[in-house]
Amino acid sequence: MTKPEKLMIDGKRLDGRGPNELRPIKFKAGVLKRADGSCYLEFGGNKVMAAVYGPREVHPRHLQNASRAIVRYRYNMAAFSVEERKRPGPDRRSIEISKVSREALESVVLEELYPRSAVDIFVEILQADAGTRVAGINAASVALADAGIPMRCLVSACSVGKIDGEVVLDLNKDEDNYGQADLPVAVNQFGEVTLCQMDGHLTEEEFGKALDMAVDGCKKLHEMQKQALVEKYGTMVAQPAEEE
Ligand code: CDP
Repeated sequence: MTKPEKLMIDGKRLDGRGPNELRPIKFKAGVLKRADGSCYLEFGGNKVMAAVYGPREVHPRHLQNASRAIVRYRYNMAAFSVEERKRPGPDRRSIEISKVSREALESVVLEELYPRSAVDIFVEILQADAGTRVAGINAASVALADAGIPMRCLVSACSVGKIDGEVVLDLNKDEDNYGQADLPVAVNQFGEVTLCQMDGHLTEEEFGKALDMAVDGCKKLHEMQKQALVEKYGTMVAQPAEEE
């Protein structure tokens, strides 16, 4: 899309949302048979799969920590996920996103319960439409819970930014491309911010507003994440035991 003249018209964004609205979001927990835990997430135009393995023995062994588990996170964008083919394999961007996403999640994993082991998180971006790192963190958090990894709580994430001088929640691709700022944020259930990055410029006042808006967005995501887990495990609990 070429640069639109305006990104907001009469208080509405070009996709019809108000400033405070998230895109349509759909979580599905436990979709992969061979992973210990998994989650598929559609977040606006983003399509994301997260798979979790562990706790399992660390290879290579010199990476083992004798007092706690280590958390590893690999963010990967499929070659077909973006408009211009993405060259397969890790690059600077995916290495950075893997690092900050791991840090956003590892504070809630009870690592001390599993010395010498690893919890491995794989996030595959199948279709990208801005906000893939926050989408990945939301899906990974549900996949960790689905894998039965002991955690203090879930982590939820969303981005907030500025378009046409206004602070808005959850930027889509055009807003990300042509807007003035983009701020991905992750928050855990205790209100601790575990990810906060920023592209572009915001005044101090706008930053405060943006952070409040992102925290509210994360609360909504948290409800959807819980719902996805209830949908899987709620039904399982309700099923009668099979007779011998
Ligand atoms: O995806 P996220 O917002 O976390 O990260 P970004 O680096 O700000 O990228 C914003 C968007 O640019 C991505 O979601 C993709 O839609 C797009 N992108 C792309 O088209 N090609 C790439 N190689 C990387 C990103």
